[in-house]
Amino acid sequence: MQVRAHIETMPPYTPIEPFEVLSARLGRAPDAIVKLDANENPYGPLPAVRQALAELPFVHIYPDPESRALRQAIAEFIGVPMEHILAGAGADELIDLLMRVFLEPGDGVIVCPPTFGMYDFDGRLNNANVIEVPRREDFSLDLPALRQAVHRQRPKLLFLATPNNPDGSLPSAADLDEILELPTLVVLDEAYIEFADPQGNLGRSLSRVEQVSQRDNLVVLRTFSKLAALAGLRVGYGVFPAWLMPTLWKAKQPYNVNVAASAAAIAALKHSDQLVEMVNRLIAERQRLAQTLARYPCFTLYPSRANYLLMRVQGIEAAELKRRLMVDYGILVRYFSTPRLKDCIRISVGRPQDSDALFQALDEIFAEVH
Ligand SMILES: Cc1ncc(COP(=O)(O)O)c(C=O)c1O
Repeated sequence: MQVRAHIETMPPYTPIEPFEVLSARLGRAPDAIVKLDANENPYGPLPAVRQALAELPFVHIYPDPESRALRQAIAEFIGVPMEHILAGAGADELIDLLMRVFLEPGDGVIVCPPTFGMYDFDGRLNNANVIEVPRREDFSLDLPALRQAVHRQRPKLLFLATPNNPDGSLPSAADLDEILELPTLVVLDEAYIEFADPQGNLGRSLSRVEQVSQRDNLVVLRTFSKLAALAGLRVGYGVFPAWLMPTLWKAKQPYNVNVAASAAAIAALKHSDQLVEMVNRLIAERQRLAQTLARYPCFTLYPSRANYLLMRVQGIEAAELKRRLMVDYGILVRYFSTPRLKDCIRISVGRPQDSDALFQALDEIFAEVH
């Protein structure tokens, strides 16, 4: 018996572990773990969301395959007609769906690493030719290289996280405009856009979501995982040009968004004022976290427009720092062993008490090292 050869040889995705698994592994209660490794929203769902979940009426009935109520609520929230919107089990599902409907084996997909690992993973899973156009040293996009790659290799898709994960940078408006003129379908992954605007208007002035209906080659992906603290429920959405919608409807799993996820997302959108407050708290904490971490001589921080900070570490191995924080203090941060990031740590923005626990742990660790 033989599975498909390209899947047998591809490297697995390394997912992040949930509280209960970490708790057992570290021998710490979940509330003694500070989880800053997966860019989750530490405040958890709004009270109205918890209530909606507790009162779910039709769990025994399959969900609406068209997620009508949810898409209507999203349409009002982003100001785009629901005919352009498809909901998914997280933005992750929609990344894979796009690849499945576009890619024949060997077709090109452009990614700009270091970036979110699922583009590469899903590209390989779909037997695509994943074309890397690396970012510059400061994680900005290499526009000439991108232009050249698109013109030479004629990729079907180009994936771009705006802001980018893991560094939090956002391309300039001029760069994005230029990218949108390239002859390929551009997928802007706005998973963190709500954190990008310090004015606290949920990233509305920066999002490209309203341009989707005016262009044929733009897709925007969004998620409730970060904005509404619903990562565990798996719910996100994409905004697509009209010509693509019939194909997506045909190809998606019929009941891809479950009733709990849908009810939770709708309840969250009904209280968008509270979402703004939560996002503002995280933006303020990002600033405090960045200012305090910048005082440690061994850290070099990258400016971030998202709910995490990437920093370069000197004087101690980044992997060792991650390990010490985890084993001795129950503080989880993200380490990537890839050549470009092997001396970096990514820290999700938590609550003020989470940052304080981190500062204290760092002070103790560095008191020993120096
Ligand atoms: C850039 C980016 N896009 C998408 C996702 C996944 O979103 P979702 O939870 O909606 O699948 C993440 C999660 O970390 C991410 O970093």
